[in-house]
Amino acid sequence: MKLTIIGTGYVGLVTGACFAEVGHQVICVDSDTAKVKLLQDGGIPIYEPGLDELVAKNVAASRLSFTSSTAEAVARSDVIFIGVPTPPLPDGSVDLSFIEKVAREIAAAMTSYKIVVDKSTVPVRTGNKVAETIKRYCKAQVDFDVVSNPEFLREGFAVEDLMKPDRIVIGVRSQRPVPAMKEIFAPFDAPVIVTDISSAELIKHASNSFLALKISYINAISAICEATGANVQEVANGMGMDKRIGRRFLDASLGFGGSCFPKDLSAFIKISEQVGYDFGLLKEVQRINAQQMDRFVKKIIETLWVLKDKKIGVLGLAFKQNTDDVRMSPAIELCQRLQKEGALLRVHDPQAMEKARPLLQGVTYVADMNEVAEGCDALVIATEWEAFKKLDLERVRKVMTHPILLDGRNLFDVAEMERLGFIYKSIGR
Ligand code: UDX
Repeated sequence: MKLTIIGTGYVGLVTGACFAEVGHQVICVDSDTAKVKLLQDGGIPIYEPGLDELVAKNVAASRLSFTSSTAEAVARSDVIFIGVPTPPLPDGSVDLSFIEKVAREIAAAMTSYKIVVDKSTVPVRTGNKVAETIKRYCKAQVDFDVVSNPEFLREGFAVEDLMKPDRIVIGVRSQRPVPAMKEIFAPFDAPVIVTDISSAELIKHASNSFLALKISYINAISAICEATGANVQEVANGMGMDKRIGRRFLDASLGFGGSCFPKDLSAFIKISEQVGYDFGLLKEVQRINAQQMDRFVKKIIETLWVLKDKKIGVLGLAFKQNTDDVRMSPAIELCQRLQKEGALLRVHDPQAMEKARPLLQGVTYVADMNEVAEGCDALVIATEWEAFKKLDLERVRKVMTHPILLDGRNLFDVAEMERLGFIYKSIGR
């Protein structure tokens, strides 16, 4: 099918590439002309495993192209996906101005029936507003349908999640766009559920909030484990074997971050409030998450006593593994808090150092993870990169002032670390 994707961020670009990969004809639009130029020249603005090959392959096959002209793309497509940012506002609600602007641009460009699909994460009832806007601004007065099709991809695993989704959610206001939507997703071989538009919008906020709740739940358990000498990983394994619970998203950590969970929680709390429900449970999820960071910082201070002028190595800056994304990264927050205490930092991340630089100044960026610990009073693990598990621990121990390792991601085995001579502190173990 002929598709347009507006917005070439993490969601838009990966979605466009995957749609092209299964045979659709895809035009990706972005208002940032420099980004469009970069993509047209074969560059990729983000780090996402497997994405560069996918884009190159589909551009070469003439199934994927880039433009900054919404009008041109809309004219050549049957279905237009919106994948623009919906950033948080200071009061926790969502800034929908990009969605509104794009809706007006699509409306202005429409001269025949189109299906307009919202993929960006939005509060419930946004779809109806998009429909109202298109109707108001479409001079040609043509028919159209608005659909909600939330995206569930995880950064760092986006291509995999998109090519093999658990489910496809299609929220509609009438049955007319359903066959075309089903055709678009037919090659993905995943269960499709068709709902009303508000339910589809809610599925996204409800899913992300539930996953965040799962993490805060295990993080709360980690505090109890620390107080009682239990091991949170054993507890999570035991809980996870119950099929009703499941083991995934039960890894205790220094807290969740990223561009989705913190924002979606605030937005869901806010929209709930607007419709008359006080979602206290989700406020507690936020509180536990903030507390988890406080408890980790406290653990570092208790171990090192005064942080002023202490040299601390930090492994990880991205908000999680396999990405260069540092938005709302717990690792960055941790670094800033250690800096505030007067610590001198040596930091490393396999992908996120460039994006971290504007947020984190006055630290030493180290290219090799095995050199971070040099001369340090402690080494801290802040992101769950698999590569960190291969750290040369013998070398690290030798080059440190004192072998203290504080692991905010439980990457290492407690007994093994003690055998190697480390003072090793992790989360809930
Ligand atoms: C999330 C959702 O998973 C995805 O479905 C949605 O489309 C967008 O939001 P993402 O933000 O890419 O995806 O990251 P995710 O893998 O969910 O991790 C979020 C945060 O939780 C990270 O900081 C991660 O380190 C942390 N996390 C995750 C934990 O602390 N423990 C876990 O067990 C899992």
